[in-house]
Amino acid sequence: MRVAIASDHAGFCQKDPVEDYVRGLGYEVIDMGPADDSRVDYPDFADKVATAVADGSADRGILICGTGLGMAMTADKVPGIRAAAVQTVDFAELARKHNDANVICLSGRFVDLAVNEGIARTFLETDFEGGRHAQRVAKIMKEDER
Ligand code: RB5
Repeated sequence: MRVAIASDHAGFCQKDPVEDYVRGLGYEVIDMGPADDSRVDYPDFADKVATAVADGSADRGILICGTGLGMAMTADKVPGIRAAAVQTVDFAELARKHNDANVICLSGRFVDLAVNEGIARTFLETDFEGGRHAQRVAKIMKEDER
């Protein structure tokens, strides 16, 4: 599985450690920047990762900003993307099982690295349950047709 990862300046302190952790789990990481913690606009990096997942050049995406919120708001605007801002492992599990999330957005300022690593692992290792959730996810994706 190819995992596209990016941050803004507020999430940069966790970007490389999260990438190393994900590589250590055996996944291919596509680093989509930034290269340092200079101030940047999070929508530019959310768009890179969301576009890579939407066009199939990556299978999943992980975004890290201060809260995870702005990244999620931006990524969810890209057709084909189901991005969730996640602060706990339980939410990561449900974002996969119930919502088939293909991008998660982490908080680099308010959530510890160890917790975010657990969230990333759960996001990558948990399958979508389908069943009753499939028709609900299909309704989410209908919104892309607006
Ligand atoms: C940057 O200061 C901050 O606004 C950004 O990282 C993020 O938290 C936005 O949602």
